[in-house]
Amino acid sequence: MSFNIKNNVSWVGKIDWELRKFHGNEYSTHRGSTYNSYLIKEEKVALIDTVWNPFAKEFIKNLASEIDLNQIDYVIANHAESDHSGALPELMRHIPETPIYCTKNGVKSLKGHYHQDWNFNVVKTGDRLSLGQKELVFIEAPMLHWPDTMFCYLTEYNILFSNDAFGQHYASEFMFNDLVDQAELFAEAIKYYANILTPFSPQVAAKIKEVLSFNLPLDIICPSHGVLWRDNPGQIAEQYMQWADNYQENQVTIIYDTMWNGTRVMAEHIAEGIGLSDKTVNVKLYNLAKRDKNDVITEVFKSKAILVGSPTVNKGILTSVAALLEEIKGLKFKNKKAAAFGCYGWSGESVKVIAESLTTAGFDVVDEGLKVTWNPDDAGIESCVDYGRGLPEKLA
Ligand code: FEO
Repeated sequence: MSFNIKNNVSWVGKIDWELRKFHGNEYSTHRGSTYNSYLIKEEKVALIDTVWNPFAKEFIKNLASEIDLNQIDYVIANHAESDHSGALPELMRHIPETPIYCTKNGVKSLKGHYHQDWNFNVVKTGDRLSLGQKELVFIEAPMLHWPDTMFCYLTEYNILFSNDAFGQHYASEFMFNDLVDQAELFAEAIKYYANILTPFSPQVAAKIKEVLSFNLPLDIICPSHGVLWRDNPGQIAEQYMQWADNYQENQVTIIYDTMWNGTRVMAEHIAEGIGLSDKTVNVKLYNLAKRDKNDVITEVFKSKAILVGSPTVNKGILTSVAALLEEIKGLKFKNKKAAAFGCYGWSGESVKVIAESLTTAGFDVVDEGLKVTWNPDDAGIESCVDYGRGLPEKLA
């Protein structure tokens, strides 16, 4: 499959309908994904990125139906992560002398992956590569989302090839932002930002401001995953600026796991209490044993505060809660409040363990949390409702 984007620019990537886990087992992709590769056929021919290795042979066969591989003058490697460089070894077997343009860190990463001494050409921000009448302009974009990442911009056609930035794990035959379901598109875009780009928000904001400062006309943004932004392409840059600015909605997310329902009962009655004193806040409950981790992290991203609950187990917490807390720590959320809760039988350390972990992760823990023994009785339930009732004031 391939399709024309504009004039001599085509998409020659792969739609991966079946993908359900990305980054090993780390990222759920309920709607599949795409690996976007772009072919520019001007006086000179450039190929931007490739696809993930399992699709390398299919990619090369498809590409060869578009162009004699020997007519490719330049390979542009915007990012060395395997989902974009995975077909490079197969491609370079066909055209071993063709120059590869990438950043200095790109050379390091590509050599680290493939141990090949290809014809690397290092580029920096502002460097230009002539394709004849038009040029590719390179823009380094470190940590969006690896140190090697760069964008490139095609003059006259006004296309920004942004690699991971502005992407979504979203398989669609339509492939343009104006043709797909908007709710699905933005659900996948925010999930992608929350789970991958959150720790790099300062770099995201700085890079978007830098690109805007170039005053380049922009007709299409072509990311390396998901659909292309051709209808009001600036909208996703504006959205990214909001997400990068300590984004939050009027939402409190209660996240827990439970052994014999005691912590679940606590969660539900804390939620009830919050609702009794604040009718405007959107309270959501997620049992980690039953919900997708990455969807929960997206809800954390949207929240002004989170409550995390676990019963005490062996003086600690349930592993599902521990795993989420570990992931949250790495994502470096900012400007969010938090509290801990949980039931216990005899020792009751879970609330302290969770609160300490949340503090380490950068959350503002608003109080000592709430502990209830065994399965909450009427008095325990009332204490949960009361606790919830008092939270909106602490979370304000
Ligand atoms: Fe889609 Fe950082 O790779």
